[in-house]
Formats: sequence, structure tokens, C-alpha cells
Amino acid sequence: MVKMRSMKGESLVLAIFLFGFVFRQSSASFTPVDNYLIACGSSENFTFQGQSYVPDSAESSMAMKIQGNSVVVTSRSSVPFPVYQSARIFPSTGSYKFDIKQEGRHWIRLYFYPLPNLGHDLKSASITVLTENFVLLNNFTFKNYDGSYLFKEYAVNVTADNLILTFIPSNSSSVFVNAIEVVSIPDELFPDQALALSPSAPFSGLSEHALETVYRLNMGGPLVTAQNGTLGRTWENDVKYLHVNSSAVNVSVNPENIRYKGAVTPETAPNWVYATAETMGDANVPDMNFNITWVLPVEPNFTYFIRVHFCNIVSESNLVFSLYINSNLASPSRDLSTLAGDLEVPLYKDFVSNSLADSDTLTISVGPDTASDITNAILNGLEVMKVSNEARSLDGLSPVEHLVPVSPSENNKVGIVVGSIVGAVAAMAFIGFCYCCFVSRRSKTTQQGHTWRPLPLYGNSQTMTKMSTASRKSGTASCISLTSTDLGRFFTFQEIMDATNKFDEGMLLGVGGFGRVYNGMLEDGTKVAVKRGNPRSEQGLAEFRTEIEMLSKLRHSHLVSLIGYCDERSEMILIYEYMANGPLRSHLYGTDRTPLSWRQRLEICIGAAKGLHYLHTGASQSIIHRDVKTTNILLDDNFVAKVADFGLSKAGPSLDQTHVSTAVKGSFGYLDPEYFRRQQLTEKSDVYSFGVVLVEVLCARPALNPVLPRDQVNIAEWAMCWQKKGMLDQIMDQTLVGKVSPASLKKFGETAEKCLAEHGVDRPSMGDVLWNLEYALQLEETSSALMEPEDNSTNHITGISLTTLDNSVSVVDGATSGTDDDAEDGTTSAVFSQLVNPRGR
Ligand SMILES: *[C@@H]1O[C@H](CO)[C@@H](O)[C@H](O)[C@H]1NC(C)=O
Ligand SMILES: *[C@@H]1O[C@H](CO)[C@@H](O)[C@H](O)[C@H]1NC(C)=O
Ligand SMILES: *[C@@H]1O[C@H](CO)[C@@H](O)[C@H](O)[C@H]1NC(C)=O
Ligand SMILES: *[C@@H]1O[C@H](CO)[C@@H](O)[C@H](O)[C@H]1NC(C)=O
Repeated sequence: MVKMRSMKGESLVLAIFLFGFVFRQSSASFTPVDNYLIACGSSENFTFQGQSYVPDSAESSMAMKIQGNSVVVTSRSSVPFPVYQSARIFPSTGSYKFDIKQEGRHWIRLYFYPLPNLGHDLKSASITVLTENFVLLNNFTFKNYDGSYLFKEYAVNVTADNLILTFIPSNSSSVFVNAIEVVSIPDELFPDQALALSPSAPFSGLSEHALETVYRLNMGGPLVTAQNGTLGRTWENDVKYLHVNSSAVNVSVNPENIRYKGAVTPETAPNWVYATAETMGDANVPDMNFNITWVLPVEPNFTYFIRVHFCNIVSESNLVFSLYINSNLASPSRDLSTLAGDLEVPLYKDFVSNSLADSDTLTISVGPDTASDITNAILNGLEVMKVSNEARSLDGLSPVEHLVPVSPSENNKVGIVVGSIVGAVAAMAFIGFCYCCFVSRRSKTTQQGHTWRPLPLYGNSQTMTKMSTASRKSGTASCISLTSTDLGRFFTFQEIMDATNKFDEGMLLGVGGFGRVYNGMLEDGTKVAVKRGNPRSEQGLAEFRTEIEMLSKLRHSHLVSLIGYCDERSEMILIYEYMANGPLRSHLYGTDRTPLSWRQRLEICIGAAKGLHYLHTGASQSIIHRDVKTTNILLDDNFVAKVADFGLSKAGPSLDQTHVSTAVKGSFGYLDPEYFRRQQLTEKSDVYSFGVVLVEVLCARPALNPVLPRDQVNIAEWAMCWQKKGMLDQIMDQTLVGKVSPASLKKFGETAEKCLAEHGVDRPSMGDVLWNLEYALQLEETSSALMEPEDNSTNHITGISLTTLDNSVSVVDGATSGTDDDAEDGTTSAVFSQLVNPRGR
């Protein structure tokens, strides 16, 4: 089970525990279903590290195809290993297509060595390698590299029946590759679920990400290769990464002694890894109080998947020690002692570390528990893998779509798209369903000139055909839930192309998890936002479905409304009303826009709160947004706030449930700590995130800012610290200082504090939040009415308050029963009661 520990102030690195030992007992060793070991440009078979490689010439394998013009080059002299002795060179974009018999994670291993060659200067060649969904390598060149050859290993989830590796040269050079491996990985090897330790850590499934091996270390042990290990992996010795050499000594036992149990098998790591380890330098000397630390250079701004391997090979009794990742306690001593307990039984533990700071090193430490009688610590193996980023890239920030050269003919694109039939068909099945709804709706309303169009079919999906006929027959009945409200209009792909000027990059509004958002203009001049989903992504499909379903049921003046959608050519495109002033965040910081006034900010917060309140209570079933943040609150041309992006939304608990159990999703800095700990989602999780939005609006800084001193990194923690002291004005946006009524600020601060309560039950409902914000706005208006009577916009209110003031003063005077102080109090409350609802609503 999962045990969470509070780590206040430790949010620089978010360590994620994976306690589940996900392996099933496996008897025989794993045989990969897909197993391509390809020697590119070679003319003969060879064996390297115990594995047989075959040439890539067309006749060698029907299951693998080369596309694009290419030449081959071979050289036997001066090349260290046979995998590097030949290469295939593509003067322009080329690709390898592999038939995939079994979906799931696959190793993709690439070998590069710039062979001397007359026609092409391979040393200065620029190498970009893509799968259909991920960027593996972006603009690598040997010119700026201090090694002579390059080996890369990736673990990519292949969800289609083929895999296309595309090699792209830069304009002036060619691109090459020496050898390629595409090999199935046992499903159990990589987990999907991940839980973060720090409250503000999010997590969605790892299996949607590509991984790249950065380090695979056999602590205290020899090199282990494909020949003497498992799954074709290479493990190297750790010594060169030790922070202090003398802090560690290597220990080893006979590898035959390792007793694999249950979840852990030789596929997890070979026995040579568990049979050796680093332990503490001068173990069992009194006052031994230090850590063994490994310092691993990493590329900043990426998340890393970290697996640590333990096996107690040194002591009959329990070893009690702690594990630290980037100086955060990742695993406390008690956990590890139970883990590393049994002698010679191997175990592992998984973490995800997100170095939010631009740190270019990852440090891993193990250190003893001083209270224990045996002062020692051990580490047997360590794997560090880079996790693909938001752009689905492992190298840089450009997504695949940016790197694929724009081809004049559509043919090339089709070539690339062909691989995605399976995904497309699934998407189509759903879209067919929606489509029929439109048709049935349209047949009632007629006009618009959109006539029934056959479903765009890729391949010959029976499921789809069946589905569309079935729904055409029984259509009205099965589609009612979707058609009962206006779903929007169907657009052809051509209409979208025209509206966005062929997805002109100049019209790009943003890039999100789901895809890219473009500015567009319809034929009739209506401005729209066009959200183009990344086709073929499983996650995208689910979210596309959610978003259409959600939006179709929801109409509210504070929710961004859906105008229509397009599903032609396996596209997943949604068309929304255009929000001229963009995301709220862009008006708070990071741009040079005019700062919003306090009143504007309050009105925006009130608008967003109304939208969320409607989501929670307005529809037949309560809906939890799950990703409330300042980038999901958009402003129209009148600065009216509307809530956007229902991609992660979830129907709330039905009456007999108190919560929805779900994998944790959301965004850094906004995530409800309780949701996080218990994975139980309620409307109160949105309330928490909205509390973060409130303090962000007040302080005009990001929810998480890793560059700041530790206590300031997380805005929720920091602002609540000042709120408790009643000194929020000390950290508020500089441009607001002196322009906010203290009473309004106080109310606002209290509201945010309640939203950010540790426990959901202590947080107000969105309705209460809304009420409190309106109150804060009234307090602001009251005070500006009193302070600036010359201000035209508040003249009317001023009139009321002055009259009231006169009256109450005279009353007090007449009664002659009060001091001046009393009179003042009376005045204030009288003014106040008049002005509780100054706008007459
Ligand atoms: C290379 O290996 C493949 C399969 O391992 C085999 O079918 C083929 O005959 C071999 N070719 C040569 C030239 O040995
Ligand atoms: C283990 O340590 C000894 C002595 O410190 C060293 O000679 C040996 O190379 C080490 N073994 C490995 C595998 O690093
Ligand atoms: C595994 O093989 C490599 C050579 O391929 C060798 O250097 C290494 O020492 C071997 N390791 C073990 C544990 O036998
Ligand atoms: C080990 O490292 C961690 C993190 O840097 C630190 O908190 C701890 O005090 C260290 N332990 C010892 C004994 O120095």
C-alpha cells in the first residue's frame, strides 16, 4: 500500500513512490515477440555481444521496409564494433518501418558512428529521429560531441501494428544510422501508475510517455552486456559517478546465490547486478555518519524515472538506512529495512524525480540510520531514464509536427499516417457515433447545406461500419443524451484549413497536452479558436471524447462554448468561441500587458467561480473540472472570464458515492493534497485549485516558481504563511499596493485560505466561494465609493452612502446616547447594510 509522508518545503524535487511490485511470477525467461536487430547498409549477418544482426537490405525481411532514397557505406578498418561498420545514408528524409506483432513498450536502440566517406561528411551530419508520436533525437551532430560513436536506448510504447522511425537531415546535410534494434519489452518492466510524495506533485500515466535510458549502473560490479545480462541491456560500473571515492567499498557474492522471489525476476535486473553493491566506506566504525552519494549529470528541465535496486548481500540482520534523491528523503529508513531485509533476495523501488529547478545534476544518496546497531547502507543497481516532456520529446521542445518537413505532396504524409490505422479506427468509431447524432439532429433542423456524407473510412473497419449503421437505425434513441443540447456544427477539414490558413504557425495560440490551438476565422467572419488534437494518441482520444461529451451538456455564460468539431481524415479538431484576451495568466505576469485592476481581478475570479459553481451543481450530474488553473480561465474581449479545457474533467460522485477514485491528474502547483494522498476526487479538489488561482491573481506570480528560495517556491504555502500573519499585502502584486481596500483584501485572503484548507471537508463549496468573492467586490466598491466621491462611475452609490451617513449621524445626535466613536460605528454598519448589494442584484 501507499504510504505518504508530508514533506513540507521539499517541493524542489518531487519523488514519486511506486510500492506496487508489479511483476507476476514468471517461469521461463522472456522471449520478445518483436525482435529486430538490423545492421543498416550491411551486406552480411554478424554477431555482436551474443546477438545476431541481419542486414537491412530489402530482401532480408518482409516485415521491415526502408522508405526514401538512400546509399550505403561500409568500412572494416578502424571501427571498434561490427554494429558500427556499415551505415545507411539518407540524403533527404527517410524511414524504417517495422511490423509490430504485439503492441506495448519496445526498446528502440540506435547506433551511430560517422564512417569516413567520400560523398558525405557524416561527422557534420545533423541527425533527427522521430517515431510517429515522439521526438527521440533532435539535431544531433558529431561535430559538437566529444565521443566517437553514439548509442541511444529508448523504451517507447507502440500502440499500432507498425512502428515508423523517421530520419531527418538538416537542409544542407544528410542523415545516417548504423544499426537499429526494435525489441519487445515485457509488459511488467515499466509501471504506469505513479504517486508523488510532495502534495503539489501531479501524476498521470507513465506509459503515455517515451523513456530514454540515461544511466544504468551496476553498483560495485563489472560491466554487464547483452551477452551476459537480460533484455539486451548494458549495465556499467558506478565508480566514476561517486561523489567521494572513499565513501564506498564494493562487495559481492556469487551471483548464483541471488534468490529471485515473486515480483522480481532476472528480467528486472540480472543476478550480476544484485550480486554486487556499494556499501559504506568504513562500515562499523563508531560515529559513522555520512552518505554515499552519486552525482549524475542530467539534462535540466526533464523529469526522470528512477529505479533503485537493492539486495542485502552483507548482513544477516536488517540494514536500516535512508535513500535520498536530490537531497530529498525519498525512502525513509524503516521502509528500506523491511525491503532490504531478507538476505540475498533482490528488490527494487521506483521514483519519478522532477528537477523543477534548472539543476543539471541528479544526486542519489544512501545513508545509515544513526539509531540502528548496524551502521551501513547499500545500493546494488540504479537506472535513470528521461521521461518525454509536454512536447512529447526527449530532446528539446519541438514536437513531432514541427520537425516533420512540410512536403509538397500529400503522399508522404499518407505514408506516415498509414501506421495509425488502429488508433484512427477507434477514433472513427466514436466519431461515427457522434456524427450520427448530428445527422439525426440535422434531419430535424435541416438547412445549413450540410448533407449526409459517408463516414471517412481508413482501411476496412468492420466495427465502425457496424456501429454507424446500428446507430443510424436506432440513432435517435441511443444518441439522445448527446443531442439533447446543441452539440455544435460539423466542419469539413477543408473549412478548418481555410479558417486557420492551413494551420499557419503564425496563428498558433498555444500548445497543450491534447494538441495545438490555432486562431482562426470562419467564412462568415466569426473568430474562433481551433484545437487540433494529436491524432493517434490514445490519451487524446479519451480526452476528445470527454470534452465533446462534457461540452455538449454544458451551456453557461462563464464556460467557453463549443462551436463545432471536425473528424475528417482521422483528425480530432474542436472549434471554440474565440476568447480575445486569452488566458488569465497572461494578464498577471510574464507579459507586458497592462496590469489588471483589483476590481477587474475580482470580477474575473467571480466569473470563473460562477463557471465552476455551474459545473459542480448546474448539470444533471456534478462535474469536476480537475485542471483548474490560470491558463484554463480565458478572457473575452470584455474581460469576462470563462472556464475552459474540460479534457481532464470527470463526472462527479453520484448520490450514493462520496468521491470518485481515479488516477491522479492535474497540474503542478494546483493539485489538491488530499486528492493526491487518497486519490479520491471530489468537487473540493477544484476548490483547492481555485484557491491557488486566487493567490496567484493576488500575487501575480506562478503557482510554482522553483527559482525562488525554498519557502517561496509554492505560492499556496507561501501566501498562507502571510495570510496567517494577516500580512498578505506584503506579498501582493506591486501594481496593486495602495489601491485595494483593506477590507476587500482581508475577505479575499480569508476566502483563499478556506479554499486551501488541508482537508476537503473544511473547504467551502464553490457557491460559498462565489458569495465571498462577491462580498469582497462589494467591500471594494464601498470603499472606493467613500474614498473617491468624484468618481463618476460610483456617483450613484456615493449618493446613497452620503445620505445614509447624514441620517445615521442625526439619529445618533438625537438620541444623545452615544460618543463619537459609537456614531462612527453606527455609520459604518449603516452604510454597509445599504451597500451589501449595491448593484441591485
Ligand atoms: C542471416 O540470418 C538470417 C536469419 O538469422 C538467415 O535467414 C539468413 O540466411 C542469414 N544470411 C546469411 C548470408 O547468412
Ligand atoms: C572493487 O574494489 C577493488 C578494490 O577497491 C577494486 O580493485 C575492484 O576493481 C573493484 N571492483 C569493481 C567491480 O569495481
Ligand atoms: C560481460 O561481458 C563483457 C564483454 O561483453 C565483459 O567485459 C564483462 O566482464 C562480462 N560481465 C560479466 C559479469 O561476466
Ligand atoms: C544525507 O543526505 C541528506 C540529503 O542531502 C541529508 O539530509 C542527511 O543529513 C545526510 N545524512 C548524513 C548522515 O549526512
